[in-house]
Amino acid sequence: MAFGDFQNEIYFNGLRGVVPALPVSFAELEERARAAMPPSVWSYVAGGAGDERTQRANVTAFDHWGLIPRMFVGAAQRELSIDLFGMTLPAPVFMAPIGVIGLCAQDGHGDLATARAAARTGIPMVASTLMVDPLEDVAAEFGDTPGFFQLYTPTDRDLAASLVERAERAGYQGIVVTLDTWVTGWRPRDLSTGNFPQLRGHCLANYFSDPVFRASLAQSPEQDPQSAILKWIQVFGNLLTWEDLPWLRSLTKLPLIVKGICHPDDVRRARDGGVDGIYCSNHGGRQANGGIPALDMLPDVVAAAEGLPVLFDSGIRSGADIIKALAHGATAVGIGRPYAYGLTLGGTDGIVHVLRSLLAEADLIMAVDGYPTLKDLTAHSLRPVSA
Ligand SMILES: Cc1cc2nc3c(=O)[nH]c(=O)nc-3n(C[C@H](O)[C@H](O)[C@H](O)COP(=O)(O)O)c2cc1C
Repeated sequence: MAFGDFQNEIYFNGLRGVVPALPVSFAELEERARAAMPPSVWSYVAGGAGDERTQRANVTAFDHWGLIPRMFVGAAQRELSIDLFGMTLPAPVFMAPIGVIGLCAQDGHGDLATARAAARTGIPMVASTLMVDPLEDVAAEFGDTPGFFQLYTPTDRDLAASLVERAERAGYQGIVVTLDTWVTGWRPRDLSTGNFPQLRGHCLANYFSDPVFRASLAQSPEQDPQSAILKWIQVFGNLLTWEDLPWLRSLTKLPLIVKGICHPDDVRRARDGGVDGIYCSNHGGRQANGGIPALDMLPDVVAAAEGLPVLFDSGIRSGADIIKALAHGATAVGIGRPYAYGLTLGGTDGIVHVLRSLLAEADLIMAVDGYPTLKDLTAHSLRPVSA
């Protein structure tokens, strides 16, 4: 079945008087999620750094580009599957790591719900270090869909090695190391309410269940949660330098992907350091304001990657955005906030609905505009939009 067929399902249900239970447009999805989330979760998920100019620019950057329609192509069938690190994925799309995704679910177990959505759709989850449930329990829900583990590298190297080893043992298929969040960016929405979920002990299951972390405590996290949280504060953020890359590389034989890379010189150096993939992202504008939309940095990153896979996120809100990121050269595109909103509104079904909607729109754009394969989507397919 083509991804675009989702619309037939919706229209046929409409004949029976059944309309989609969940929003089809991003604007409505966001609005309904805002109403459904506790204010502290909404502030954490929707908010960004500074006055959120970079966060907004990530989204509006897509408006500056348009896809040129091609006719007489015969794009009756579209091929969206990709090969990534030797795995075949049904679409060039994945779920970006969202720490506190656990808290976005009504039952407080959003990591498990996300993993189940990955199992149902074949769209991989990049699971954050900051989980409500331990990484092993999350991986157990992946079904046949490959999963990736996102590492916030702790200051304690033994703890880093332990987390990576656990991820390997649990069956994760790649390690994504996030480089832009060794310290939290200036986030006025959360600052104005003194809201930082991890300091309240949320989403620390991977630490509290880790043998190395536990061995560093006088009492277990169950006996003395406050001391465990204090210890977590000490070990959370490791300010990595290029000198650390050989060590990171030595931690795993799995594909190693570095997240937060936006400058072509950094791409080249990471490539020389033996990484398997580059992840171009500005963390959705949550970390540093006053930046450049991630989409604007993508073409230079792709050029410098010289064929190394380039994962991309920041600002994807529609199927059209996915298409434009692919035409700019992304190998695979990460969905962020939209799936968190789908989760809040409908659990696993909500995420599946959001992913299917995004993929249906992307597929139908390829159909209408005459781009039957991903190879057909190139920088030449795009023109700047003047208005
Ligand atoms: C609430 C929230 C939590 C996040 N947590 C993480 C995380 O734990 N690790 C990480 O690498 N990125 C994290 N990110 C960044 C996402 O992986 C991704 O880069 C970002 O959401 C893309 O921007 P967008 O959602 O506006 O499209 C988080 C994003 C949000 C919204």
